[in-house]
This record gives sequence, structure tokens and C-alpha cells, in this order.
Amino acid sequence: MDKIRIKGGKPLKGEVRASGAKNAALPVLAATLLGRGEYRISNLPDLRDVVTIKRLLTHLGAEIQSDGPQWSIRTPDLKRCEAPYELVKTMRASVLVLGPLAARFGEAKVSLPGGCAIGARPINLHLMGLEKMGAEVKIEHGYVSVNARRLRGARIYLDSASVTGTENLMMAASLADGVTVIENAAREPEVTDLAEFLIRCGARISGYGTNVITIEGVDSLDGSTNFGIMPDRIEAGTYLTAAAITNGDIFVRDANPRHLDAVLLKLREIGIAIREEPGGIRAIGSGKIGAADITTFPYPGFPTDMQAQFMALLSLCSGLSVITETIFENRLTHVAELRRMGADITVQGNTAIIKGVQRLSGAPVMASDLRASASLVLAGLAAEGETEISRVYHLDRGYEHLEQKLSNLGGDVTRVKQTP
Ligand code: EPU
Repeated sequence: MDKIRIKGGKPLKGEVRASGAKNAALPVLAATLLGRGEYRISNLPDLRDVVTIKRLLTHLGAEIQSDGPQWSIRTPDLKRCEAPYELVKTMRASVLVLGPLAARFGEAKVSLPGGCAIGARPINLHLMGLEKMGAEVKIEHGYVSVNARRLRGARIYLDSASVTGTENLMMAASLADGVTVIENAAREPEVTDLAEFLIRCGARISGYGTNVITIEGVDSLDGSTNFGIMPDRIEAGTYLTAAAITNGDIFVRDANPRHLDAVLLKLREIGIAIREEPGGIRAIGSGKIGAADITTFPYPGFPTDMQAQFMALLSLCSGLSVITETIFENRLTHVAELRRMGADITVQGNTAIIKGVQRLSGAPVMASDLRASASLVLAGLAAEGETEISRVYHLDRGYEHLEQKLSNLGGDVTRVKQTP
């Protein structure tokens, strides 16, 4: 398995472009199962998860032609309505095909995703919503099967504002008979991107971006549309954090400040100069990182997907910082690895108490999920000496061309190919 080797200590400077957002690309691609016609989707990032959903759509019978970030997709008829274990186990977001398949073809069978490194991550809310819409849901032999002649509109309350849950139900409701109201819906910008895509295809959706989304079902959707995926706010936030932790100066082109309010607020609070410039955001380190307390919340709160990266940053703060993770029950696994690099962090439940240290030192490390790996990359960029990060496949799931982008910013970052 490949490794990323970083020689730390260099301030990163220059410009980097935010790629298309992974977590917007996945639901939009799943939504192509909903209608006929030829979808033309652009700004798709070159990521392992995007390749996985392409394999899944192709397995189901979609015809896909891809030319770099630009794909054209047709889903006239499908070969099958089943997402197999081999694909779902590598990417939980495969569950996003459940709603579209059930709504358009009346049946869907998807391997039930198990727990993952960051938490149990059940899909009970996706299933409850589909049942409310009249579907029969069965769990057997590790698969969930959903059957419905035609879904019907329903009032659905989500106990927690699940992002993919909201997306799955919004897609399903687009082809249901009647009006669906999703209460306590997720407000993440990726949900808005999906809603805008569905509307482009003929769906009738209002209230997206708020916590009550109303969907008036239509008989069919027409995919003959062009759509560009929104820029990745988490990737953008990670590069802004790279500027902060290396005392550098990075302009992230296409970063949308409206999507990053909570992150920018915290960067400013700890003394990083943030400038909203035409076409993107610039972050400039000040040589000193102040302390801050952070609690993760659903959007527009501080994103759980930026928590690990901020942990690396605050490990170098002057003073004491407290980070509390409220979304996932096991998302502090990077703490042990950051400690191996010299960070002073203690954990109580889902809270990490970080006593800032003067410097981190490079070490061989590994992480068990995507954002934890990103936090180790950031720590490695700031650390003295060499850091070698294994299990690079996590990074390849969510950061497009990471080592090239960091090298272009002046980082000493190389991928070490290893044969299995
Ligand atoms: N939850 C339930 N039941 C459900 C669904 C969710 O109890 O049926 C709980 C979860 O256990 C969790 C909370 O609700 O405690 C929120 O989970 P959510 O469903 O919102 O997460 P997700 O939709 O599975 C997406 C992103 C994640 C991101 C979270 C939170 C995609 C493909 N994934 O996951 O992204 O962390 O929302 O913002 O959109 C990442 O990119 O690294 C990543 C993990």
C-alpha cells in the first residue's frame, strides 16, 4: 500500500483550486437513476469514492462516458436494482441509490452498510422515511430490500438531521405520488446542491437549505441537463488550515465563504488573517496560533469533517483548547497518532483537551478514516523532520491529487509506491 512522505517545516504559499465536492458528487450521481435523458455533469473530482459510485451505477446498468471531470450519463433501463456487498463495504454512501431505485423502479436491494471507523452510522432514518412513503422494507441476509409500487408523499420527521438520509428521502419523494415534507432536514450545502440538480431535472422542491423541505412528487424526471458540482468546502477548509499551521499564505480558488462561515470564524479567532477575495478565500498565518474551543454541529455549525484538521492545528496553539465531537461517537482516533508526533491531548468521552506545544516532530503514523488522515498530513507539514503516513487509500477517497496540490504550494510531499 502506498505511503505519503512529508518533510515538514516549510510555509505553504501560492494558489490551489478547490475541486468538486465529494459529498455533493455522490448524491448527484445517485440521482441520475431517477430519470431518462442524457445528464451532463461537470466538475466531478477524481476520487476513489467517485470511481466506486461509477462502478455501482455501471453495475446497475447506467451508461457512463467520462472525460476527466465531465461525465455524460444515461439510465434508460436498468439491468438490476441491487447494490452488492463488495461495493457498499468500500463506500457507505452507496446507500444513496436506495431512494432513487425504489422511487423509479419500485424495488431496491442494497447491502446494509455496517459500522465504520468513526461510528455505528445506522440508516434507520432512511428506512423509516421510505416506510412512511409506503414502501415495504425488509432486512435479510445483510441486505435491505425496499418494495413499493409507487411511493406516496408523507410527513417525515428526522430524529437527527442526517445528511444522506435527507438526500435519499428527497430523491425518493421527487417521484412519489403527492407532497412530502421532511422536518428536521439537513441544511448542508451539499443537500442544496442536490436539490438544485433535481429541480433542473424537473423536480418540485422548496425549503432546501432550511430544516423543512417540501417536495411535490412528479411523474417523471428528465435528465437532459448540464450541471456543475459545487466546490468542496471541506477540501477548501483543509487547505486554509494548511496555511494556518505552516504559517503560510494560501489562496483557495473557488472556495465559497458562505459555505465556510464557522470554519473562517474559528480561523480568525485564533489569529489567522482570512481575506475573502474575488474568486476565493486567502488564509495568511501570523506566526502564532491562538487557542479556541470548538464543538461540532450540523451545518451551519462547525463541521465534523473539519474537526480532525483543527485538532492538528490547535495542537500548536498557545494555551488550552477544547474540541467536542457531537456528530459521531468515535471520531477522535487521530488523537493517539497526533500524540505520537508530540501533541499534548487528553480525551474525556467525546471531548479532547489540547495543551498547545511549541513543535511537533515527524513520525510514521497511520489513520483509520479520511479526515483523520488529513489531520496527520497537516501535522506532518508543520512538524520537524519526516512524517510517513500509511493507509493512503483514505486520502484518495476525498482529496483530489493531494500530493501534487501540496507540492505546488511548496510542500515537500511525495507518494511512496509500495507493491503489496
Ligand atoms: N444517524 C442516525 N440514523 C440514520 C442516519 C444518521 O442515527 O439513519 C446519525 C448518525 O449516526 C450520526 C448523525 O446521525 O450520528 C449524522 O449522520 P449523517 O447521516 O448526517 O451522516 P452521513 O449522511 O452518513 C454525511 C457525510 C459525512 C459527514 C456527515 C456529517 C456524505 C457522503 N457523507 O454522512 O462525510 O461527516 O454527513 O456531516 O455526505 C466525510 O466526507 O469524511 C464524511 C464522513
